[in-house]
Amino acid sequence: MSQALESYIRWETDELVLLDQTLLPGEVKYIHLTDEHDVFEAIRALRVRGAPLIGVAAAYGLVLGMNRQNYATLDGFMTELKAKRDYLASARPTAVNLFWALDRMVDRVQMEARMMPEPSALKKALLDEALKIHQEDRETTFKIGEHGLSLLKDGYGVLTHCNTGKLATAGIGTAVAPIYLAKERGIHVKVFADETRPLLQGARLTAWELNDAGIDVTLITDSMAAVVLKQGWVNLVIVGADRIAQNGDTANKIGTYGLALLAHSHGIPFYVAAPRSTIDLQIKDGSGIVIEERGAHEVITCHGFEIAPKTVKVYNPAFDVTPHDLIAGIITEKGIVHPPYRENLQKIF
Ligand code: MRU
Repeated sequence: MSQALESYIRWETDELVLLDQTLLPGEVKYIHLTDEHDVFEAIRALRVRGAPLIGVAAAYGLVLGMNRQNYATLDGFMTELKAKRDYLASARPTAVNLFWALDRMVDRVQMEARMMPEPSALKKALLDEALKIHQEDRETTFKIGEHGLSLLKDGYGVLTHCNTGKLATAGIGTAVAPIYLAKERGIHVKVFADETRPLLQGARLTAWELNDAGIDVTLITDSMAAVVLKQGWVNLVIVGADRIAQNGDTANKIGTYGLALLAHSHGIPFYVAAPRSTIDLQIKDGSGIVIEERGAHEVITCHGFEIAPKTVKVYNPAFDVTPHDLIAGIITEKGIVHPPYRENLQKIF
């Protein structure tokens, strides 16, 4: 597969241009973001989403934010940089890639400032770092795809959850990256995609992009996963991640934990695919991961249609944590990490 794939996110002169994912699959519309507030809103509203892509977007958001003003002193520049970093970091709490990318941007400026303390040079360094984060993510997804491909055989069935593909990264995805490479190499893999309520990332996004790529994809509602596993149609479950703790506990889209339990009780290996930027070695286990709770309207409505009484009480966690003992392996750009995760995840850094 060509690494020069068309990306759903790009930097154009002084703007960040990205596909508004909330409109899919009905409308393919690119939006032009010109300041950090646009980027904050796009991340919070899930116009851009998926842990790696949120990191890329936030890095450009910091560039846009800092480019808007002129700074007379280094101190003034650094104070604003940190304030904008914190602002963008508050857009969503669970995917660690957001903080990872923003902190990498700040670190780069701190390093450059020792040699070139002029704000204009620091602005250039910020853009350079954002472009690097973007390009690295592209390359990382191909490596994840290569490692994950070693788990697939011709005729395999793979069940996946949420969207972890080209729409969620700058490249070919995480959990579906091996499937893209399998397709390219003539290995036939049948994909089952959970619809992923409440926001339907599986139906609106995964089904859309895999279908478009000519991959054999069957859409199911979340409640059909158990039956599909029981039929023996699935050899592997592969999902993405928003944050992986030291011990391998993994936060991912709500419903992932239930899927891991189902896979366990059917004796089907359950894999997580994620770049190292999703691994948070600061956090000992899943209990330290902040889980985003989103508004009631996402559950009361379904893609714009009202499906429940407006005043009913709603619980809407956007993610859950799958305990590490349900995970057969974590597919990274450095290879597949197996248990014990506390020991083996350290080794890839
Ligand atoms: O709320 P979202 O759509 O940003 O959630 C995305 C997921 O949970 C993905 O599975 C995860 O970010 C991995 S994306 C490669």
